[in-house]
Amino acid sequence: MTTDTTTRDTAPGAPAPGTTVLDARGVTMRFGGLTAVNNVDLTVNSGEIVGLIGPNGAGKTTFFNCLTGLYIPTEGEVRYKDRVLPAKSFKVTAAGIARTFQNIRLFSNMTVLENVLVGRHTRTKEGFWSAVLRGPGFHRAEKASRERAEELLEFVGLASKADHLARNLPYGEQRKLEIARALASEPGLLLLDEPTAGMNPQETRATEELVFAIRDKGIAVLVIEHDMRFIFNLCDRVAVLVQGQKLVEGDSATVQGDERVIAAYLGEPLENDPGAAEAAEVEAAEAAQADASSDTSAGKENDR
Ligand SMILES: Nc1ncnc2c1ncn2[C@@H]1O[C@H](COP(=O)(O)OP(=O)(O)OP(=O)(O)O)[C@@H](O)[C@H]1O
Ligand SMILES: [Mg+2]
Repeated sequence: MTTDTTTRDTAPGAPAPGTTVLDARGVTMRFGGLTAVNNVDLTVNSGEIVGLIGPNGAGKTTFFNCLTGLYIPTEGEVRYKDRVLPAKSFKVTAAGIARTFQNIRLFSNMTVLENVLVGRHTRTKEGFWSAVLRGPGFHRAEKASRERAEELLEFVGLASKADHLARNLPYGEQRKLEIARALASEPGLLLLDEPTAGMNPQETRATEELVFAIRDKGIAVLVIEHDMRFIFNLCDRVAVLVQGQKLVEGDSATVQGDERVIAAYLGEPLENDPGAAEAAEVEAAEAAQADASSDTSAGKENDR
């Protein structure tokens, strides 16, 4: 697993490790009488994967919506790389924050590749007249976008499905496609809202590796998840929201051991750890896959 933070490369153009990328201060979001997010401070530094956890209805998605211009916070301020964020989601994407959604939002009747191309629109300079006249500049930009989209599909493991309709992908692959589409805007910060919801343990493990790989490309990550195994494996830091307020923030061990977090969200660990059975199941499946591929490796030479 690529958890070793000492050996990772910083991608060219990425801010130096430890620089503050996201700085949310005193963010409050009220809906009528309901305070969904209450005076939350959160920073994400470059090179970090930060987790945001908490019970259903704690305000996690609402907080993401405040970070991405979908909602204008009732109070507080959000800065991305020292600039106050504009209050429009397409401008936030252009500034460098991309996200995926808890309820998948793909163009279901478009192909996988087209969905990623849609994600590139904030990064293409060609304007309206260029698209109408379809001159050499337009064709060059279109080719470059297509190549980048194909590269991203390869990165998330969907290259072989580029021409499939998004709606025909299994659920886990739709989530990966959402990640590819978000990456297409070339973000400096990626927000993931429950990226493993509905995935089986093997897909979850693969998503873990994918998030590490994204971080290793110099993109900071803020991730919401209910799967605690995933969160505590992945995150450098975890913040816990309960009833709109940040209850605790710290490294995995600190958060897992905090009595308030246990009482409000995690609960006492069970005697016979149910996660152990799940881990054994994934390891057995991976070992079986490795055996199968070594059995057929001789044949593969001829398949190329
Ligand atoms: N647009 C809205 N109008 C009114 N209330 C809302 C709105 N969006 C969210 N809420 C309320 O704000 C609270 C926080 O909801 P939110 O979806 O942010 O929680 P969450 O932590 O993401 O929960 P989950 O883990 O179930 O996804 C809930 O009580 C929800 O009903
Ligand atoms: Mg949510």
